[in-house]
Amino acid sequence: MTTTDVRAADPAADRRLIVGMAFGGMAAQTLRAAVRLRVPELIGETPRRAADIAAEAGTEPQTMTRLLRALAALGVLVQDASGSFSATPAGALLDPRHPHSLASFVRVFTDPVALRAWEHLDDSVRTGEIAFDAVFGTDFFRHLAQHPELSQAFNSAMSQAAGAAAGALPHAYDFGRFGSVTDVGGGAGTVLAGVLDAHPRLTGVVYDTAEGLAQAPTTLDRHRLGDRCTLRAGDFFRSVPEGSDLYLIKSVLHDWSDDQAVTILRHCREVLPAGGRVLVVEPVLPDIVGPVRPETAATDAEGHAADGGITYLSDLNMLVNVGGRERTRKDFDAVCHRAGLRVLSVAPLTGAAPYCLVEAAAQ
Ligand SMILES: C[S@@+](CC[C@H](N)C(=O)[O-])C[C@H]1O[C@@H](n2cnc3c(N)ncnc32)[C@H](O)[C@@H]1O
Repeated sequence: MTTTDVRAADPAADRRLIVGMAFGGMAAQTLRAAVRLRVPELIGETPRRAADIAAEAGTEPQTMTRLLRALAALGVLVQDASGSFSATPAGALLDPRHPHSLASFVRVFTDPVALRAWEHLDDSVRTGEIAFDAVFGTDFFRHLAQHPELSQAFNSAMSQAAGAAAGALPHAYDFGRFGSVTDVGGGAGTVLAGVLDAHPRLTGVVYDTAEGLAQAPTTLDRHRLGDRCTLRAGDFFRSVPEGSDLYLIKSVLHDWSDDQAVTILRHCREVLPAGGRVLVVEPVLPDIVGPVRPETAATDAEGHAADGGITYLSDLNMLVNVGGRERTRKDFDAVCHRAGLRVLSVAPLTGAAPYCLVEAAAQ
């Protein structure tokens, strides 16, 4: 008897699981429509009637009712006895004014640009080729550079995705023993701003492409970090700026193949002073797939991701869109070793699952 046979037979639940996944793309587009029609903003904090929301959104009342009902069934709205709709705490995250909003994140990850390559996942699995490049005739980051509006939306989505890590990271690692930290591929600077806010003696550098840095001045202004944080535009495949004793790399290595990840890490190693550290912040996959049900811990005691399967979908997203991958501890050991680094520790980033801290030093 296999382990799956041990579960009580529940054919209806089995069907729901498969049908629910097959309809997953429709759920994503329902969220997208809600954001594009500004439903969460129009509802705000007081229950509203479908007809009023429809009038302000410029839609037919009847079709708006159908959208609102679906959103309620998905758990982002609730309908009260009078028929009015209000946002659940999860639904409130679709409002761009929410301090922890995921509205840009939803827009970007439900956009055809993020999804078209997914239609060719089987080809990428067959060949290992990056489907995005074949569909768009260029690679993902060049495509962003050619489309400033999309690039801005992507930066904003990354900032929103980084919100939890920016809150948790400053308290999860001993930043106090360093003088300066460079955030390699630091984008809008959201994570570094969180670290610098919590560690007033630390100075920082956000290192990214010119497009990646486009929103960083706004972040530094908002956090009043102009005198403690500088922005450096460059290409981490050519070099990483020297001058820091800590090099932070969050959600960057998984965008790239092993050879490319080694190049980025090697450039960090080349400028690492004695006693310096490289701190990679990314999910760490277990060697064998762990529990993936959402009700299980999102990161286990060894720091492995078990977040309802999202990290495994992210892994496939990297395959089709950018040619990168999520990595196991062994994978991180291997790429660090090839770059002249040694992994010292791996620990879950408490409060920001499925992220982990992978600390490395010179060999
Ligand atoms: C997935 S985002 C992560 C951003 C940020 N670290 C975070 O966690 O929110 C990857 C970042 O790598 C940057 N990037 C891509 N290619 C780069 C290159 N060749 N040199 C420097 N940065 C690059 C992108 O602009 C983007 O900001």
